[in-house]
Amino acid sequence: DTVPVITIDGPAGAGKGTIACLLAQKLGWHMLDSGAIYRVAALAALQRKLDLQDETTLAAMIPILKIEFRDGEAWLDGEVVTGEIRNENCASATSKIAALPAVRAALLELQRSFQQSPGLVADGRDMGTVVFPGANHKFYLTASAEIRAERRLKQLSEQGLSAKLCDLIQDINARDERDASRPVAPLKPADDAVLIDTSSLDRGEVFAVVLRHIA
Ligand code: C5P
Repeated sequence: DTVPVITIDGPAGAGKGTIACLLAQKLGWHMLDSGAIYRVAALAALQRKLDLQDETTLAAMIPILKIEFRDGEAWLDGEVVTGEIRNENCASATSKIAALPAVRAALLELQRSFQQSPGLVADGRDMGTVVFPGANHKFYLTASAEIRAERRLKQLSEQGLSAKLCDLIQDINARDERDASRPVAPLKPADDAVLIDTSSLDRGEVFAVVLRHIA
């Protein structure tokens, strides 16, 4: 594949989405929010009231789903689900189904189909390790759980949603733990990823570090 890819991985709330968006805009490249794909699949499982541990049934559901991203919205079978996939209930279900190897395998091709000219910025947990191991540049963003929970709280309140900071810290820690300890595609930096701790950096500073590396 000659279409260039830049991957941005890391835990929830590390600022991957923001940086991926800024970078894709700057380069005029496509963007893949792989977490949104997992979230839409989890929402479909919740709607169908499937057992979130039933790997075979969940993996069999995925090929029949119509998952799309257009007009700035996420779509499941022709319905806008942008808001629904962002709630913590869906996030928690997402990290459960994302731990299942057959579910990950079923979503691989869809994720790789985003690699289109002139280039792709992909954000997630395993973009640099599994989905695009040959990426031109790989970044891994981290930040303390408290800082990440504070950022999530701010995001939620901007959407008119409320939450308790301590609940968010607990949710984030539980989700990190599940994402990092799963046997398949665990949350971890690729060997050749640039690590950036964003705890004490604002988005402009993180973006500057990223741009310096790809210059
Ligand atoms: O990035 P976001 O918070 O939207 O991801 C939601 C969940 O999807 C993560 O907690 C993780 O369990 C899963 N995920 C994943 N692999 C990715 C992206 C997301 O397992 N590449």
